[in-house]
Amino acid sequence: MPDQAQGLRALMTRARGNTAASAVPQETTELPDAAVVYDSRPTTRCHSSSQARVIAVTSGKGGVGKTNFSSNLALALVQAGKRVMVVDADLGLANLHVILGINPPFTLEHVMRGEKNLDETIFTGPLGLKVLAGASGMTELANLDSARRDCFLEQIVDLDRAAEIILLDTGAGVSDNVAAFLSAAREVIVVTTPEPTALTDAYATIKVISRQSSDIDLKLVVNMANNEVEARAVAERLTSISRRFLNIELKSLGYVPNDQTVPKCVRAQYPFLLSSPNSAAALSIVKIAGKLISSDQSDIRGAGLADMLQRMSRFFQRRNAAGDRS
Ligand SMILES: Nc1ncnc2c1ncn2[C@@H]1O[C@H](COP(=O)(O)OP(=O)(O)O)[C@@H](O)[C@H]1O
Ligand SMILES: [Mg+2]
Repeated sequence: MPDQAQGLRALMTRARGNTAASAVPQETTELPDAAVVYDSRPTTRCHSSSQARVIAVTSGKGGVGKTNFSSNLALALVQAGKRVMVVDADLGLANLHVILGINPPFTLEHVMRGEKNLDETIFTGPLGLKVLAGASGMTELANLDSARRDCFLEQIVDLDRAAEIILLDTGAGVSDNVAAFLSAAREVIVVTTPEPTALTDAYATIKVISRQSSDIDLKLVVNMANNEVEARAVAERLTSISRRFLNIELKSLGYVPNDQTVPKCVRAQYPFLLSSPNSAAALSIVKIAGKLISSDQSDIRGAGLADMLQRMSRFFQRRNAAGDRS
């Protein structure tokens, strides 16, 4: 099987106008998917096992537990043997590092300013979990000059093998920035609580996502449920109205109970999955991680970090162009 990084690197060389055929390994011609790096057309589906699944975690309402869910889910996936990277994509309330109890010294902004290499900003957290903080730097992607952008994408090529699963912890609602991250993912997990306000906002978010991109695989997690019966009722209600009014199949991944271990661990700045592995919240997260792994289908695979950033860059370019016109 041809090496993905090798293929992307060769494409970079070609894109810079280096026509020396010897610089391009023969097998790269078998990697049409890699062309997404320089191709502004919609990306093609990719089926290589070396490419990361990009999964965004979002919600309609704030404070429903996205960050606790994504950080502990990321750790559960690592425990299940996956190489995982979690990205703090909440540009307003970036606090993923607080919940993980880490303090990454550099962020993506340093990379954008040309002060650091990308690999210096990927922080290794508990269990070897990779953490990328300061995702707000991604909004600058569209404005980089082409030389800087080439340099950045080249670094991503090397990084792309760091993770099999990339989890994006986004902000709530559907602002432009959240939409950019959602458009970069092929799978989106919507987190809600059983509260009527959270449910209404979750449905509004599902509606916007389903209208924006038809190829996103939407999943649901009910957090802070009082019991399984309540969680099931909430999930059934949302899946049935999504089917009826939006014509989409929302897949329920299960629920996380209301568990006081969670706020206790937030205060201690230590993930509950590690400090209280037998708590109800931790056990349910492990179950959800198992479901997520078993739902891994090649047809919903992304094309890794490079594809994700390319999709985001296009999103911001479109947005900037629309801004220029108005
Ligand atoms: N399953 C749970 N049980 C009890 N409290 C929870 C649970 N999940 C999250 N919380 C609490 O909810 C609050 C918001 O969580 P957070 O993950 O920061 O939400 P978000 O990222 O959606 O804004 C935190 O104080 C956290 O302790
Ligand atoms: Mg959060």
